[in-house]
Amino acid sequence: QSVLRGAQPLSGKRVLITAGPTREPIDPVRYLTNRSSGKMGYALAEAARRLGAAVTLISGPTALPQPVGVDTISVETASEMKNAVAAHVQTASIIIAAAAVADYRPETVAPQKIKKSASAPTIVLVENEDILAWIGRSKRADQILIGFAAESENLLANAEKKLRGKNLDWIVANDVTAEGAGFDVDTNIATMISRDGQQVALPKMSKREMAEKIWEAVGGDTFKSV
Ligand code: CTP
Ligand code: CA
Repeated sequence: QSVLRGAQPLSGKRVLITAGPTREPIDPVRYLTNRSSGKMGYALAEAARRLGAAVTLISGPTALPQPVGVDTISVETASEMKNAVAAHVQTASIIIAAAAVADYRPETVAPQKIKKSASAPTIVLVENEDILAWIGRSKRADQILIGFAAESENLLANAEKKLRGKNLDWIVANDVTAEGAGFDVDTNIATMISRDGQQVALPKMSKREMAEKIWEAVGGDTFKSV
């Protein structure tokens, strides 16, 4: 069993977590999204709650029930997620970006359902703001910032680039093509990398177990002494 059992090393801390996909509308009946289930982010929120934290979960659309005891804010688009994060980020001592935020959105949202016509429509995309990078630019020294990296190749090198580029303290590198890892499954496989060069291998395990391991690594000695 985990060394964390029964201990509440996060009591008195505010934790902010983003989770799930975002949904970027095309017209009143269609949208762009991705395969994220929200399971990893929700497991992190539940684990933080068990560890005593006051948790705010900002979630894109998922099929998961709202975790008990967690303040959950539901959003759809990346822009809505950014606004919800902006309203909560200052008071958070630990922030985890587990959401699979859409990198792009349709430039315009058609006000009426797009009708079938002789020529197929072209959807022009524009970039969404990188919420995690935005947090990283204004992060205070007393805040811990953790991101995820979803990769299908060059896992550690790509993750390390995101760790530095977004000014993170930790990144959880996820090979989303590995069997038993990534989007829409109950298990995950990852490697955590810290800004000071620590690496923590997280072999295949349930997302609930992985959430506890992630908190253990982030808490370091504080967690082990309790
Ligand atoms: N992220 C975010 N806002 C975005 C895009 C990503 O907050 N608009 C966060 C994710 O929540 C995740 C991290 O950035 O914690 C990395 O997301 P990922 O998609 O792996 O990386 P990107 O930087 O978007 O680069 P790419 O998709 O090209 O690999
Ligand atoms: Ca991305």
